[in-house]
Amino acid sequence: MRIRKAVIPAAGLGTRMLPITKSMPKEMLPIVDKPVIHYVVEEAIKAGIDDILIITGKGKRTIEDYFDRSFELEYYLREKGKLEELKQVEEIGEMVDIYYVRQKKPLGLGDAILHAEKHVNGEPFAVLLGDDIIVSEKPGIGQLIEVAREKEAPVIGVERVPQELVSRYGIVEGVKIGDGLYRVNNLVEKPSPSEAPSNVAIIGRYVLFPEIFDALRETPPGKGGEIQLTDALKVLLPQPMFAKEITGKRYDVGSRLGFVRANIELSLAHEELREEIISLMGQIIQEVSHE
Ligand code: G1P
Repeated sequence: MRIRKAVIPAAGLGTRMLPITKSMPKEMLPIVDKPVIHYVVEEAIKAGIDDILIITGKGKRTIEDYFDRSFELEYYLREKGKLEELKQVEEIGEMVDIYYVRQKKPLGLGDAILHAEKHVNGEPFAVLLGDDIIVSEKPGIGQLIEVAREKEAPVIGVERVPQELVSRYGIVEGVKIGDGLYRVNNLVEKPSPSEAPSNVAIIGRYVLFPEIFDALRETPPGKGGEIQLTDALKVLLPQPMFAKEITGKRYDVGSRLGFVRANIELSLAHEELREEIISLMGQIIQEVSHE
């Protein structure tokens, strides 16, 4: 079984990052010198995905422009002899086949995924949410694809979170059957800490099978009045479903702190920037400790 298609829902309003998201998609927020969605697309490509569907919505056109060829810019860079920059820009336009479909009303993540039904055309597919960037040796979504291929069942990416944060996530209840691997028994979208069956949180990476579309159609609006993917996954139980703790470093770039942290840490990974950033950080710490 090959999993070669991925869906990236990018229709959300990005309310956690207002006011910047008033006129700019959260997926286009820069992490060092690339937008968030570039990292997510790279992760999918590294995991063997060669076909990506991005679910967009109002105000998201810059995402399409970013992944498109830009002949004017390429002409200008060539004329000026800026060949390194030219190569970079050309490569983005040719990374992978990307398709777009628009979600007309913001009815939730579940409804956004339903828009992918025609495109995935009966195949299992990966889902990557743009709120998380995962830095790891083995791509985050690739770790789930491995399990899905072995088990021939849906797999949800999870991470243990502190109990006080469970209400920000979909929470999985399961039986541990291997190293970081659970068989899922129950799912709850954003429970209060006292109601949460565990602290195993869904982190925006999934491998789904086409059965999810019927389940989504049967799912009534849930938390926040939106059609929740977590609720639709619950409809599919008791069919086999697995959750896998993704190894690697995760940045929640849809939150202010996660966004700033990702910028600092990923700039440290840049060879040309690293030394300067370290000395800048030292300087800033000295300055603030004297305030
Ligand atoms: C969505 C899902 C939630 C999951 C989270 C991960 O919520 O509904 O189950 O834990 O993504 O980022 P959102 O953050 O879009 O509200």
